Amino acid sequence: MEQAQASDALVFFGATGDLAYKKIFPALADLHARGLLTVPVIGVAKANWDVEQLRARAKASLEAAKKPAAMIDSFCQGLKYIDGDYLDPDTFKRLRKALGDAKAPLHYLAIPPSMFATVADGLANSGCGENARVVVEKPFGRDLASAKDLNATLHHFFPENRIYRIDHYLGKEAVLNMLYFRFGNAFLEPLWNRNYVDNIQITMAESFGVQGRGKFYEETGCIRDVVQNHLLQVIATLAMEPPASHTPGGLRFEKNKVLEAIRPLESGALVRGQFEGYRSEPGVSTQSNVETFAALRLYVDSWRWADVPIYIRAGKNLPVTCTEVMVRFRNPPQTSFGGQEFGKSQNHVRFRLSPDVTIGWGARCKLPGQAFVGENVELKMAHESIEDIEPYERLLGAAMDGDPTLFAHQDAVEASWEVIDPLLKNLGEVNLYKPGTWGPEEANSVLLPGASWHNPEL
Ligand code: BG6
Repeated sequence: MEQAQASDALVFFGATGDLAYKKIFPALADLHARGLLTVPVIGVAKANWDVEQLRARAKASLEAAKKPAAMIDSFCQGLKYIDGDYLDPDTFKRLRKALGDAKAPLHYLAIPPSMFATVADGLANSGCGENARVVVEKPFGRDLASAKDLNATLHHFFPENRIYRIDHYLGKEAVLNMLYFRFGNAFLEPLWNRNYVDNIQITMAESFGVQGRGKFYEETGCIRDVVQNHLLQVIATLAMEPPASHTPGGLRFEKNKVLEAIRPLESGALVRGQFEGYRSEPGVSTQSNVETFAALRLYVDSWRWADVPIYIRAGKNLPVTCTEVMVRFRNPPQTSFGGQEFGKSQNHVRFRLSPDVTIGWGARCKLPGQAFVGENVELKMAHESIEDIEPYERLLGAAMDGDPTLFAHQDAVEASWEVIDPLLKNLGEVNLYKPGTWGPEEANSVLLPGASWHNPEL
């Protein structure tokens, strides 16, 4: 692969916002501390602030993230700031000046998608967009049509190879570990298909509610918020064929094939839920029919996976905060040990994606004693301590280096919306559930006979 030119400045729009506070400042400060961010860092926003106010905000963010004092000072001192309206050409003129000699800046649009076109236009007309990369935040559209429109808008100003769409799940250590484990071991391959796998489950449980993001959530809901992007990317990683090469194109090509092979959802294969009390959250309609929980069953119609049910469950206010993938294998016949053992095996591979990174192998072993009676045990693989590279640090570092491997391509975004779009057009009523439970009872109806949900335990 040809060495890409590294970006020589980092500009982030939305510098005074929530995402900057929670994720972007800590990620940039970590990159800076590792010596991987030595170029000018410029925040842009419209808040009537000066640079000292932005530095104070960055300091507060880094203190909240428990970063060391020396790192905080050194990072914050270098921050620059442009305060201005995105509609005003003068904002971009000042930005161009602040960029100085930079010839290949990276612009990170941590702003609502409705502002993408305005900012892209401002960048293009001021010369700031020349030879630049642009990083855009999710949500990337709210359905297939709007995602296509957004792509067309961005392509008007930037070619595809300069657009980096962030899905922070793609930068998670645990997701990369899952990808590595699949193709770093030969023993998995003979089993990893419809002949041996009975079903796959992905549970993304969060024990908290919408945390003051009621207004955002009302426009989004669980399916758009995490299923269309994070969880479909997890499925693509689990189900893809081995890429022919470790190139961005190789990986994306195989993942897109999975997304494109997802069968349109059957009726009854989706159940939506809403936790009791959601309608009293600030910013939420008292009549809201928006889901805070979704359970669905889908199929990847490929040679490898045809007819293997893939169950997804995601929700807020569930009993734990944990994301797990459970790949359950078919049972052995077990007639060798008598009827009492029949159907008791639980062979599986379990990938815990958060809060920790674990891989578990479920096997049935004989209990000591005379009888041929067994128990299910799990062999666990986990790192005692992992050097934490947060997804935003990994992804922004990669974008600066011009490595698109861990970013969503236009095709993948559109293929994911192709899967989700028909669901959104045909939403029934939400089923209420009590906070702290595993969602509405109705979620069981998406399971095929004999299947049961795997509830992650901490
Ligand atoms: C975000 C969603 O993309 O992912 C949030 O908007 C969700 O609703 C979050 O809580 C989960 O991310 P993580 O990394 O904490 O699992």
